[in-house]
Amino acid sequence: MSTTHGIRTVGVCGAGTMGAGIAQACAAAGFSVVLYDAFPEVLPKAMARIEQDTERQVRRGRLREEQRAEALKRLQTTSELTSLARCDLVVEAAPEDLALKKDLFGKLSAAAPSAILATNTSSLSVAEIASATPKPALVAGLHFFNPAPVMPLVEVVQAPQTEPEVIGRLVEFTRDLGKTPIVVRDSPGFVVNRVNRPFYSEALRLVGEGQVDYQTVDRAAREAGGFPMGPFQLMDLVGIDVSYAVSLSLYQAFFGEARFRPHPLQRQMVLQGRLGRKTGRGFYDYQQPPPEPEPLPLPRPHPGPYAVAGDTQLARDIFERLWQRGFEVTQLTSPPEGPLPVAAIFEAEAEDRTRKRSFLTALDRWTGEDAVLLAACTNASSAECASWVRRPGRLAGYATLPPLQDRKLLEWTSHELARADPTPYLAALGLPLLRVGDAPGGVFPRLLAAVVNEAALAVDERIASPTDVDLAMRLGVNHPFGPFQWAERVGVQALAGVLDGLRDYYGEERYRAAPGLRRACWLGRWPQR
Ligand code: CAA
Repeated sequence: MSTTHGIRTVGVCGAGTMGAGIAQACAAAGFSVVLYDAFPEVLPKAMARIEQDTERQVRRGRLREEQRAEALKRLQTTSELTSLARCDLVVEAAPEDLALKKDLFGKLSAAAPSAILATNTSSLSVAEIASATPKPALVAGLHFFNPAPVMPLVEVVQAPQTEPEVIGRLVEFTRDLGKTPIVVRDSPGFVVNRVNRPFYSEALRLVGEGQVDYQTVDRAAREAGGFPMGPFQLMDLVGIDVSYAVSLSLYQAFFGEARFRPHPLQRQMVLQGRLGRKTGRGFYDYQQPPPEPEPLPLPRPHPGPYAVAGDTQLARDIFERLWQRGFEVTQLTSPPEGPLPVAAIFEAEAEDRTRKRSFLTALDRWTGEDAVLLAACTNASSAECASWVRRPGRLAGYATLPPLQDRKLLEWTSHELARADPTPYLAALGLPLLRVGDAPGGVFPRLLAAVVNEAALAVDERIASPTDVDLAMRLGVNHPFGPFQWAERVGVQALAGVLDGLRDYYGEERYRAAPGLRRACWLGRWPQR
């Protein structure tokens, strides 16, 4: 293979899920690969996984049988470090443990003294790992995503001591793998693991507080948000031990910043040996075929009439949808000042909490005893909304974000004093209903707002540009949109509303909106970076 980067033979150090996946990706792209693991018994398992996976690719018509045979021929396994001597590049994919990686890098630099040494660390400092070698200029990060043969992104991590020429060669090499490189700074979690951290941590929090179970979180993430996998499915794929190690490492690197605090549930799962797919059991059980998810209820809708209250995109979307579905519906862009003869009202002031309160108080005053108040619990809990009205028993909530056309379900919630069944009214929107716990933002709006906020903080800190963050999140974790594209689609005010609601509800700084996000709310555009 003729290359400009001069890399022909790649060593992969560590034959776990990631190491095997990286070796497979390199061999499939035409590189000779030496797959090393200190524990020889791991190597046949890794080879069996690669054989099965490439066989599946042949079955699906993605690979020809002869290409598969060629790729397998290019792969050699070893448990002797000296066999890496002829490699031009060694990619280390050992467990996420700094002492272990440093020790390994010391040995690798002796075994392959002129090779580029790249770590696939998810969150440890590349500079610190490099410090264990006599030639730290040859050390960089090459961060792949699971499943490595499939995911298109590679973060090429430039530590302060990395030679720029090494980064250029790694960028070219990554392109030859058929993947998209982005060059990122050596900062905790780089781009993807940092920005996506709240996807896991908010999900763990929701379950830890007993608000919902993990299947509900995953369902809301997939069907309300359009994420390819829910956070618990993703932790099972990545490995709960890996995910826990990344959480710990970010928490330490940010000196105990509350946003990055690991969750006790992660630790419990690790202690039980329930590490995810690789051990056959994590949050889900992989020893048996997964049960089909139960269809969600969609009751017969109440005939109305309805009103929609609020001057927001969400209010406009709800009005449009009810109207298109043939319901009689009134739109109120300011709080009512006279009687409102309706069966139910969707309050949709999902952005500003002060306006929300004045809407709800006026709606309470001007509607009949039996009218059901459906509060947007995107920026407040239904309990808080209920505290603002004289007859809390008729109030329930729903949590969603515009555009409604992107949602395949509607999250709804209720509180201790509720008497009315809101589901026939919520069903007027024609979306299957998923009950969630009663905290601002339900599941999907909360996960998204926290991810976008982390993206805004990372950009504020000059970790990457908004364009690179968007690219990284679309290609590294297959999000349907990058966080900044998503903010544009949903509306940055609505996301700030979720964060403000959560900050008030929990009284915690972890939900403080990023300065850049706040400025985007005021000025209608993100700060230029
Ligand atoms: N290993 C290897 N290949 C796999 C795989 C696995 N575990 N799971 C799926 N695939 C392959 C399939 O063979 C298939 O390949 P072909 O198209 O060539 O046939 C392809 O992926 C699509 O698979 P499916 O059609 O069966 O399933 P899908 O459409 O549900 O896609 C998915 C599967 C690509 C994994 C998708 O669900 C997804 O994108 N999930 C999110 C994955 C993600 O976010 N990964 C990053 C995690 S973070 C990380 O790894 C970094 C870190 O440091 C912790």
